[in-house]
Amino acid sequence: MTSALRIGIVGLGRLGRRHAENLAFRVPGARLVAAASPSAEERDWAAANLPGLATEPGLPELLARDDVDAVWLVTPTSFHADHVVASLESGRHVFCEKPLALEVADCDRVLAVAKARPKQVAMVGFTRRFDPAIAEAKRRIEAGELGKIFSIRCSSEDAIDPHGFFVRFAPTSGGIYLDCAIHEIDLVRWILDGAEARTVTAAGTRLMYPGLAPCGDVDTGFATVTFDGGCVATFHVSRTSHRGFESMLTIVGTEGALEIGRGLGHLPITVEKDGGRRVGGLVDFFDRFETAFLHGARAFVEAVRAGRPSPLGLDDARAATALAVRMREALVVAE
Ligand code: NAI
Repeated sequence: MTSALRIGIVGLGRLGRRHAENLAFRVPGARLVAAASPSAEERDWAAANLPGLATEPGLPELLARDDVDAVWLVTPTSFHADHVVASLESGRHVFCEKPLALEVADCDRVLAVAKARPKQVAMVGFTRRFDPAIAEAKRRIEAGELGKIFSIRCSSEDAIDPHGFFVRFAPTSGGIYLDCAIHEIDLVRWILDGAEARTVTAAGTRLMYPGLAPCGDVDTGFATVTFDGGCVATFHVSRTSHRGFESMLTIVGTEGALEIGRGLGHLPITVEKDGGRRVGGLVDFFDRFETAFLHGARAFVEAVRAGRPSPLGLDDARAATALAVRMREALVVAE
């Protein structure tokens, strides 16, 4: 492909706006031509901030256009499977935010359509694989620097949200394991070259956000997974961090260990006041993974334009959903 890849984005919420700005201004070879959202306020934002962009009220209208080569889905998770299927069946390449779906059967439905259309690139947005530090860790592990990996500790914590966004988000997010731990699940599987999970235990609490109870969700979750080959991984995810977003991975092998992400979530400012010292300010997931989102977007666009396979295929997305569902089903809630 010599011309730019013409992209239509669907969803302009918390994350969709960030993707839209990346695609409009920071991804070589991409041209953002249209944006769809059922919200008039969001469409107005797009028209004001992304000049020259057409806006549509939804996916069907976007798919009816003849100037869209690829669809970029940043819609609520509960729509992903249907939206990916519709986009693929319309002949478009697809980037879809994580997770691919909330149930394995829905992933299988998508995979069946994708496998029948091998020339179309479909990628799920596990963009943390494209974070420079995590990608460097993977390179070192592949080079054998850590020896055989036997322990991985993951933690990913969102800041306490006084406005209760996560409670409103819970009915469509799939809960903390499918929404949050899914990133680390993908990373652990990637680090272990797709090793199968053998046993899964999980426990959590919703003491800070009891409003999560109707969805069966928790604000703090733990899970322990044993993998074929002898590695054990622990996952800690929460929406209750007092220090802002932080995502950490500690990977231990027979020859060495790597720790990724400690303190990176903070702005490089130390405030000295009232006899104390305070580091940085509150940051969110986008501050930490901004580069990863950009590299992930570029990888998708480069793959489509070069006629290469997806940089992050749907089989991995299915496996991540399958393991997150096992955690959700194993969950024991402390009450
Ligand atoms: P949000 O609720 O802020 O935005 C959702 C967007 O979808 C809104 O623009 C809304 O108008 C639109 N929408 C709702 N129903 C629609 C429909 N039927 N058709 C078309 N558009 C529709 O949600 P947020 O936080 O932006 O999350 C969106 C997706 O991104 C989720 O799947 C979430 O898991 C994922 N995400 C991924 C992150 C990552 O680190 N990779 C971080 C945050 C979100």
